[in-house]
Amino acid sequence: MSHAYRAVGWNRQKRLYDLTIAGGVVLYLAVFIGTAAVLRPNATIETLLIRALGTGALLLLHLILSIGPLCRLDSRFLPLLYNRRHLGVTMFILALAHGAFSTVQFHALGNVNPLLSVLTSNGRWGDLAQFPFQPLGAAALVILFLMAATSHDFWLANLTPPVWKTLHMLVYLAYGLLVLHVALGVLQAERHPLAAGLLALGLAWILSIHLIAGWRERAADREVDGASGDDGFVEVCRLRDIPEKRAKVVCLAGERVAVFRYDGRVSVVSNVCQHQNGPLGEGRIINGCITCPWHGFQYEPANGSSPPPFTEKVPTFRVRLDGDRVLVDSRPNPPGTAVEPARVPVNREAGEAAS
Ligand code: HEM
Ligand code: FES
Repeated sequence: MSHAYRAVGWNRQKRLYDLTIAGGVVLYLAVFIGTAAVLRPNATIETLLIRALGTGALLLLHLILSIGPLCRLDSRFLPLLYNRRHLGVTMFILALAHGAFSTVQFHALGNVNPLLSVLTSNGRWGDLAQFPFQPLGAAALVILFLMAATSHDFWLANLTPPVWKTLHMLVYLAYGLLVLHVALGVLQAERHPLAAGLLALGLAWILSIHLIAGWRERAADREVDGASGDDGFVEVCRLRDIPEKRAKVVCLAGERVAVFRYDGRVSVVSNVCQHQNGPLGEGRIINGCITCPWHGFQYEPANGSSPPPFTEKVPTFRVRLDGDRVLVDSRPNPPGTAVEPARVPVNREAGEAAS
């Protein structure tokens, strides 16, 4: 990663972002409780608080799950991605408060341990209308806890990125459990159909943007057409299609690679950042280094290695130019292998600048 960028650090923008999250949460809880108190004057403050915290957490979870696909659809959403972990931890705190208040409210007065009571007090697993929805919320809370507890980069490094990524993909299992938790809970309480409608709308939104982003990516991933020559080189794009200090992402032998153009040179590296699989090809060259758009890890374009003292490395690819055609060897080099960049002829650079 970089000297100039720090993945975790405090700056004015981050503080502003966190203040906005905290202010938004307080405002949401106040508006929810105030409105519900007027609409349902008989409800106790405990009930209103439990509902405000639960819906607040679920709303934040929708926002968190939307950020990834939105960023893939439009890079203007990227600033939201930088601070997604703070949103995640905030969501977990709300969910924990909701679970803890519910446990105290509904399970603390019996002679069974309250946590055991959450899991065992309702045994009607075969009855949809009376289904024990609370254990589903508890299971989701365990997953959210594991995610919040391992959200720091310390755990990313210690668990290794593939294990960490798999653990954090469990958020979709947690989301599924929560949809059931709320759907079955709302069914039991025979509440206003608006609640069920909003939940269905949220589910439809999450499914749609994931499908649209996936479909767009698949369309963009169409293999480059050029047949590979005897030497393994394939034409991937035209030089004029690559903006200066940026990349064109192409799909080569089933892998996304990023073709960077900078200072009269062209270098090719894997598109996958070693930090959290961010799309390097959507980043820029800053201070001579490819800079990941997600959290700012940096790699030298000619060897795919992070500048010292950092040790991350991505695979590199051999590249050459034939006039305006960019040809890349489809066989990746081991991560961190130095490759001579292709040189852009000076007259071509000057010609493009003039046109
Ligand atoms: C130990 C864990 C949990 C327990 C014991 C629990 C318990 C409950 C209970 C008793 C209700 C019904 C409240 C009522 O009808 O007034 C409820 C509803 C709800 N829960 Fe949970 N829950 C847990 C975890 C979660 C988590 C992790 C989330 C979200 C991140 C969540 C989101 C919700 C939502 C959105 C509702 C519907 C709110 C409403 O009633 O209007 N719950 N939960
Ligand atoms: S810096 Fe985090 S994914 Fe690249």
